[in-house]
Amino acid sequence: MFSRTALRTTARVARAAGGPSKVARAAFTASSKLRVEVISEKAVKNVTYSDGEAQRSTLIVGESSNVNRVVPLSKEVYKSMTPSMQKMTIMDKVVIVTGGARGLGNYMARACIEAGAKTMIIFDANPELGVQAAAELHEATGSKIPVEFFAIDVRDAKAIEDAVAVVTEKYGAPDVLINSAGIADSNIPAEKYDHDMWRRLIDINLTGSFLMSQAVGKAMKAANKPGSIVLVASMSGSIVNYPQEQSCYNASKAGVIQFGKSLAAEWSKYNIRVNCISPGYMDTALNNVPALDKQKAIWKSLTPQNRLGAVDDLNGLAVFLASDASAFMTGSNVLIDGGYTLY
Ligand SMILES: NC(=O)c1ccc[n+]([C@@H]2O[C@H](COP(=O)([O-])OP(=O)(O)OC[C@H]3O[C@@H](n4cnc5c(N)ncnc54)[C@H](O)[C@@H]3O)[C@@H](O)[C@H]2O)c1
Repeated sequence: MFSRTALRTTARVARAAGGPSKVARAAFTASSKLRVEVISEKAVKNVTYSDGEAQRSTLIVGESSNVNRVVPLSKEVYKSMTPSMQKMTIMDKVVIVTGGARGLGNYMARACIEAGAKTMIIFDANPELGVQAAAELHEATGSKIPVEFFAIDVRDAKAIEDAVAVVTEKYGAPDVLINSAGIADSNIPAEKYDHDMWRRLIDINLTGSFLMSQAVGKAMKAANKPGSIVLVASMSGSIVNYPQEQSCYNASKAGVIQFGKSLAAEWSKYNIRVNCISPGYMDTALNNVPALDKQKAIWKSLTPQNRLGAVDDLNGLAVFLASDASAFMTGSNVLIDGGYTLY
């Protein structure tokens, strides 16, 4: 269970996130006591959570799993690594993960800390889950790594810019963006697709990828920093899923892949790399819908590995794409699907 302070923090951040272009933020660091303050003219609220107030918790937000410990990569261990292994880390990098309150984003955030990230910034539209996830992640690292949560809807350009400015001021420009925020609609025939639902999904999955990349890319460029942007697309951007009809989701992810390639070509001159991860069916809350149970059996039967991906199955690829080990990779779209697209 979380402390009362953490729960009060959740409520405050949730309330503060209510207004347009206000950015609510919770920081879990090894500094002193809880405080809520306006730290810029942009009405960015800063909530700091102290080491002493943190309590042990086994809660893994959004998923049930045995993974309740995150081991940050220490300087000593880093120094003892071979040069090739060092390249596979993201030692001392500032990392932003969108959609990091739960699911794949949350687990990629964990992996980034274990691979050396010096601070973890989570952007998510769900303030309750986000504050809990940040508190839990900070505690899971033994309170060694600062974890900050910003209540951000990836459709809100102003809120994103304000939050990236706050991150840059405090930690330096981000080195890595992992954009995992996304939603899915399925089993909706195109002829019945509601227009507002269509626009909402495109706004979150595609326009959100653009707005996040633009704000973070601008900060990287201004700081003259090499950067890595990892966009979570989907195999649905390359194939048509069966049997469920989901034209909008598929179109949104195809858009993310082509956007990623275009951005990679444009921003190579700034030393900013852009790559996509395209997962197959993953066993996350996104798919935990009773209506999908029968279809899941079909999905598995069409997957050579005969299973859905685990919630941490993207971790290694995300770290690799974020790290210098993939220095010559940009504009790639990497399928990670248990072999689904082979058939
Ligand atoms: N689960 C799968 O089978 C699967 C397969 C392929 C691709 N993907 C993609 O992976 C990504 C993560 O999926 P997941 O399974 O972890 O989903 P999830 O629903 O468990 O997590 C998504 C997170 O994104 C956040 N989010 C949603 N809308 C947002 C918005 N407008 N602004 C900010 N945050 C928002 C949610 O609050 C949530 O924390 C998505 O982009 C999804 O399309 C998932």
